[in-house]
Amino acid sequence: MEKKFKRTLVTCALPYANGPVHIGHLAGVYVPADIYVRYLRLRGEDVLYVCGSDEHGVPITIKARQQGCSPQDIVDKYHKIIADSFKALGINFDIYGRTSSKIHEKNASEFFRKLYDEGKFVTQESEQYYDPEAKTFLADRYIVGTCPKCGNENAYGDQCEKCGSTLSPEELINPHSKLSGAAPIKKKTTHWYLPLQDYEPWLREWILEGHKEWRSNVYGQVKSWLDGGLQPRAVTRDLDWGVPVPVEGAEGKVLYVWFDAPIGYISNTQELLPNDWEKWWKSPDTKLVHFIGKDNIVFHCIVFPSMLKAYGDGYILPENVPANEFLNLEGDKISTSRGWAVWAHEYVQDFPGKEDVLRYVLTANAPETKDNDFSWKEFQTRNNSELVAIFGNFVNRAVVLTHKYFEGKVPAAGELTDVDRETLAEIPALRESLEKNIENYRFREALKDAMQIARVGNKYISDSEPWKLAKTDLARTGTILNVCLQLCADLAIAFEPFTPFACERLRKMLNVQPSAKSKGPGRVPQGEPGPGIAFPTANAPTIDWEQLGASDILPEGHQLGEAELLFAKIEDDVIQKQLDRLAAIRAEKEAEAKAELAKQVTPQKEECTFEDFEKMDIRTATVLEAERVPKTDKLLKLTIDTGIDKRVIVSGIAEYYSPEDMLGKQICILANLKPRVIKGIESKGMILMAKQNDGTMRFITPQEAVCNGAQVG
Ligand code: MF3
Ligand code: ZN
Repeated sequence: MEKKFKRTLVTCALPYANGPVHIGHLAGVYVPADIYVRYLRLRGEDVLYVCGSDEHGVPITIKARQQGCSPQDIVDKYHKIIADSFKALGINFDIYGRTSSKIHEKNASEFFRKLYDEGKFVTQESEQYYDPEAKTFLADRYIVGTCPKCGNENAYGDQCEKCGSTLSPEELINPHSKLSGAAPIKKKTTHWYLPLQDYEPWLREWILEGHKEWRSNVYGQVKSWLDGGLQPRAVTRDLDWGVPVPVEGAEGKVLYVWFDAPIGYISNTQELLPNDWEKWWKSPDTKLVHFIGKDNIVFHCIVFPSMLKAYGDGYILPENVPANEFLNLEGDKISTSRGWAVWAHEYVQDFPGKEDVLRYVLTANAPETKDNDFSWKEFQTRNNSELVAIFGNFVNRAVVLTHKYFEGKVPAAGELTDVDRETLAEIPALRESLEKNIENYRFREALKDAMQIARVGNKYISDSEPWKLAKTDLARTGTILNVCLQLCADLAIAFEPFTPFACERLRKMLNVQPSAKSKGPGRVPQGEPGPGIAFPTANAPTIDWEQLGASDILPEGHQLGEAELLFAKIEDDVIQKQLDRLAAIRAEKEAEAKAELAKQVTPQKEECTFEDFEKMDIRTATVLEAERVPKTDKLLKLTIDTGIDKRVIVSGIAEYYSPEDMLGKQICILANLKPRVIKGIESKGMILMAKQNDGTMRFITPQEAVCNGAQVG
């Protein structure tokens, strides 16, 4: 039996304030959460929508050091960029707080202190890396060295970003501190740990037994963590940025960022509702839903719940944790450090008025069950052939024709034909499916249901051709347009969770107001009557989710607003600009990779004896004639003076040298190589070339002119 709740608390993973958010974050967490919240609000549910910046952790201190400013400067900067970009995309949280706030510091500190006082932690002494010059312990990220797997000289103590291997600082060759460059030494330090293994039986029962309905990626990850056996998890760190550990003798230690950040959800709720926050966190009538990306699963399903369980005091646990997989960009993993991303704040600048398009594309292609790819071509196609050609086109035809034949007033519906009835009857079924899909976190499917309404409408208007009938049968034309306008109203309702900006435009066109039920700061403003005819007009009827699928949403005679463009086509040059930007990043990376490769040396060959070497007859020679071997790209035919004889060698160096380059040059050859026939030419010997790591070759020449036939060895 589905449990009935009185209210829903929706949290979104707090983004790290060490960089802007990108489309991967949006598709993974914020767009789906926003759809869910908007939907619940449209249904009149009591919802609280909480997010904020995650402002602690090592990456922020690294960034600050790189940029020569304080960590606070970094988080101030990105907090604002992130908050503004969410707002611009219509993702309007009830509160977007920050974990560097006073209230959060107090909260996280007290949370730790209670668990500490109640003996819920264990302490463990361990050896950690320490920078003897900077006099500070080093987080894994602060230790760099050579990757033992691929030779990358800039591998981190926890990971090599080049080959993707997970590392520990011990494995690095030539490890050194990022702070001072000094070789780190090991030093003893004591930390507090939450003994997760003690919570394992309880976690098994709660999730593995009690939440089989969770997404299989989430359930599966939890199961494999539990089956692998849980370990005590450190909740403190030696670092100078974060919430100080509120215990005597813990100077220089802060709470681990993953201990304090989820408490941020609670702090932010308190900041918004200082007197009323508890009902959101401590009432069994509250449904708690965490929207996160897959890399956050363990923290939200195992660590944070164990913290809350340890704390007690009535804290509720999540009812669901709909985690998404990852979104790639044009076939490659999104990478903040490599700049391989589409940034939210740049998108809203590059595509003003197209916030909905991004929301739409990221939902249509959401990585709900597997990693997915974002491509600009697909973005363009979905805009042009779905939003413009189906949704926009249908609405436009219905509204324009109503203005043309009926002065913009909803015409009377005469007797309905079978087709009319069948068309209208499709909507309640789509509504039911859409609701089920959203309630079960299947947003891609839900969007398809909404789009199906537009497809139905588009087909209906194309098939019934009211523009042709208008000359002969105005009453029938009116009936058709009446049906079309009801479908337009359906679209204005059904698309509100997905494309709120377009729905606002559509409501203006239809001259209707948003549901009065919908509370909260989401974009569903009540119509403001302006001077002259402003739509929606002051007394315009409201449209409500509960009307979705009804055949009389817009009453006969209702005055529509002006027709305006719901969506605009996106041209090739706009897309090309984005592709060019990415191509430039790709080219730069490839050049870097090539330069890196060129630095690397092929490993030494197997040992050989002096006798082995003695077998090679290597000599100097001079090129007398040089020509290309016809019908080949790579081969030169060289006639050379070896001091012993004049002979021909065919050599695969035409990619690097022209015949003129070679003429008169002194070279070294392997003279006694068994002759071979190449392209019909007998080649006697081989030219010695230095083969570089990027594949290019240079011939070997004596530093000063020597006689031909001089033995090399
Ligand atoms: N900052 C983390 C990330 O981006 C998410 C923190 S979620 C919270 O992966 F629960 F800790 F707040
Ligand atoms: Zn590596």
